[in-house]
Amino acid sequence: MTSSTRKLNLNVGINTTGYLPNAWKYRTGSRHDINDPGYYRGLTELAHRGLFDAVFFSDHPALMTDPKGRPFHTIDPLILCTALAAQVPDIGFVATMSSTYNSPYNLARRTQSTDIMSGGRLIINIVSSFNPSVAANFGSAPLPPRSERYARAWEFLDVTKKLWSSWDPARDGQIPEDQFWDASSAHAIDHAGEYFSVKGPLNVPLGPQGHPVLAQAGASEGGIDLAARHGEIIYCNILSRPAGQAFGKKVRDRAVAFGRDPSGIRIVPGLVVILGDSREEALRKHELFSGAGSEDGLLARFIKEHNIDPEGFDPDAVLDAERFIPNPNRIQAVGMGLGLSDLLTHERLTARQAVRRAEGNHRLVLGTAEEVADAIIDLWADGTVDGYTLQPPRAPDDIQEFIDKVIPILQDRGVYRTRYEERTVRERYRLPYPF
Ligand SMILES: Cc1cc2nc3c(=O)[nH]c(=O)nc-3n(C[C@H](O)[C@H](O)[C@H](O)COP(=O)(O)O)c2cc1C
Repeated sequence: MTSSTRKLNLNVGINTTGYLPNAWKYRTGSRHDINDPGYYRGLTELAHRGLFDAVFFSDHPALMTDPKGRPFHTIDPLILCTALAAQVPDIGFVATMSSTYNSPYNLARRTQSTDIMSGGRLIINIVSSFNPSVAANFGSAPLPPRSERYARAWEFLDVTKKLWSSWDPARDGQIPEDQFWDASSAHAIDHAGEYFSVKGPLNVPLGPQGHPVLAQAGASEGGIDLAARHGEIIYCNILSRPAGQAFGKKVRDRAVAFGRDPSGIRIVPGLVVILGDSREEALRKHELFSGAGSEDGLLARFIKEHNIDPEGFDPDAVLDAERFIPNPNRIQAVGMGLGLSDLLTHERLTARQAVRRAEGNHRLVLGTAEEVADAIIDLWADGTVDGYTLQPPRAPDDIQEFIDKVIPILQDRGVYRTRYEERTVRERYRLPYPF
């Protein structure tokens, strides 16, 4: 049952200690939490109390080994989601999975299985992976070039979708006494392509959503193509309204160019919120959780991150957007860099202003609960975005604070649910049934 009125969709990231690498020093909890299933159950139950659409796991199948930083990806997200779905009702689960380091048959089978076991609450965030440490865990071959990763991802999702729809028991005809089932309800896909040769059918039937909802992250040209062809929820970096409208239009226009109805696309960027009883207090917390220690520290980090010559750099001069357009062949995700250049393309900002607009490449909103609620509703109300994936600096602390202080305001304003109504995440995002 899909609710008629458009509501704000909110996911919450629950990777290990929270999104900001340095903030683990200021959170409630122990270092052992990051590998404790009970800890993730607690975060999911907390998110359930906040009536979030889904908990979100980004992923890199590689252990980050910087002793000063906390590992951000540990237990396999799909296994964690499967276990948590059996323990916590209603809430959805986003598991990030790579199209470069998985096989279509295994991914299709495992994700359809989890979607059936969760009653239609699974979202898969497809990434083509950009981290060389991940490549090193899957053979001696270096990370393939971006263009090849996306060409593979394109075929990967074509095959996966064919597999997901290859066995539909609902099409069973009259079954004679001596037969167990109508095998004609399953069909081979006989796929033979550049990267994959897969016979099928899948040995897991259609699930409650047809197939899990497909999210996608990556905003280079190859990423936009993949989003436009297959993405239902687009996880991205949008730092302002004009940048968001330009991004949304680009993806939807590309979808139309591929002959796809763009009404089945939801734009759900990342969002970092830092709350304070005043804006001043929130600014100080930003300096602490970011590890920068002060505004000068934030500026020093900005100069370092963008390889700016500090000699003569004026943090109060308007930044030249061209200077920040990411090299399309860089190793790091292009989409994560486009956030800032798109912001500066549409807004004249100094470095001192820009360092307060993004954290970890995602939009940063800091201030009182009222100011934060205003900023969230602002880009949602006119359709620039359909919702946000909240990336809390600290888990559980900043999830708890957001639930206590911001959710009640969003509910009072009538933009956010007051109880779970829909059964599946596809209904919750008002996405069409795929088959
Ligand atoms: C907002 C965002 C989140 C991403 N999250 C992940 C992730 O969790 N794991 C991962 O391997 N890649 C992630 N990526 C990068 C994707 O892997 C992407 O497919 C590609 O490698 C590079 O992205 P690009 O198309 O933006 O250059 C993310 C990209 C964006 C823009």
